[in-house]
Amino acid sequence: MAMTSLERAEAAEHAMSQELDRIVVKSVIYTSGDRDPRQPLPPQQSQGKLYMMGHDPRLPLMPEKPTLFDFFKYRFGPSAHVLQSARLAKKNGVSEKIVLACLLHDISVMGFIRGDHGYWGAQLVEPYVDEEVSWAIRHHQVLRFFADESYGYKYPDSYVRLFGADYQPEPHIQEAYRRAREHKWYETCRLITVNDLYAFDPNVKVELEEFTDVVGRHFKQPKEGLGFDQSPSAHMWRTMNHPTKYL
Ligand SMILES: [Fe+2]
Ligand SMILES: [Fe+2]
Repeated sequence: MAMTSLERAEAAEHAMSQELDRIVVKSVIYTSGDRDPRQPLPPQQSQGKLYMMGHDPRLPLMPEKPTLFDFFKYRFGPSAHVLQSARLAKKNGVSEKIVLACLLHDISVMGFIRGDHGYWGAQLVEPYVDEEVSWAIRHHQVLRFFADESYGYKYPDSYVRLFGADYQPEPHIQEAYRRAREHKWYETCRLITVNDLYAFDPNVKVELEEFTDVVGRHFKQPKEGLGFDQSPSAHMWRTMNHPTKYL
């Protein structure tokens, strides 16, 4: 016999409470610093309980074959900054590849890992975009710290506020900058930083759908869904999908 909608809701709630009985152990990197990673974890009430090995019911369920936009909708934090950057890039008449790079440049901050986010972000998208796009995303990490007046890019005032007036990028970043400066795709990356800096405006609302065509043309979605193909970064997308998975 078919369930009523109330029964269905109750069944769903029951399933969820069962799910929540799963033991969640956070990865060391999520808590390292808040706690000393060398210390053993406090003992858990694990009697009769299973460990989280898939979907965490506290998060919205992702479609079986998640797309890039599904990650924007269900896993990433607010995306106004990258949407505004991408729109600004479009308005400035840059190529679609650069618009895509602007749309994706901070996805690691939004959904994965903040420190070294340019490198992580590039690695996430590398199998699915033109090499020039991932190169530019990787190096925006570095170029942001160095002015280039010929593109009208100044050292961000906000960095003085955030990191102090005497902040100096580490030697490996300085070296990465010297190399990027000589690279044939320097300009592509520089244009991310140019369109990045002025992109914050709380009053401008940009919809993801504005970039459906650009993404469709320049982001090769795997047919199995992000995370379930066999690409070198599939596991990173799975980790964002299932961030509390025990193993
Ligand atoms: Fe960034
Ligand atoms: Fe940014």
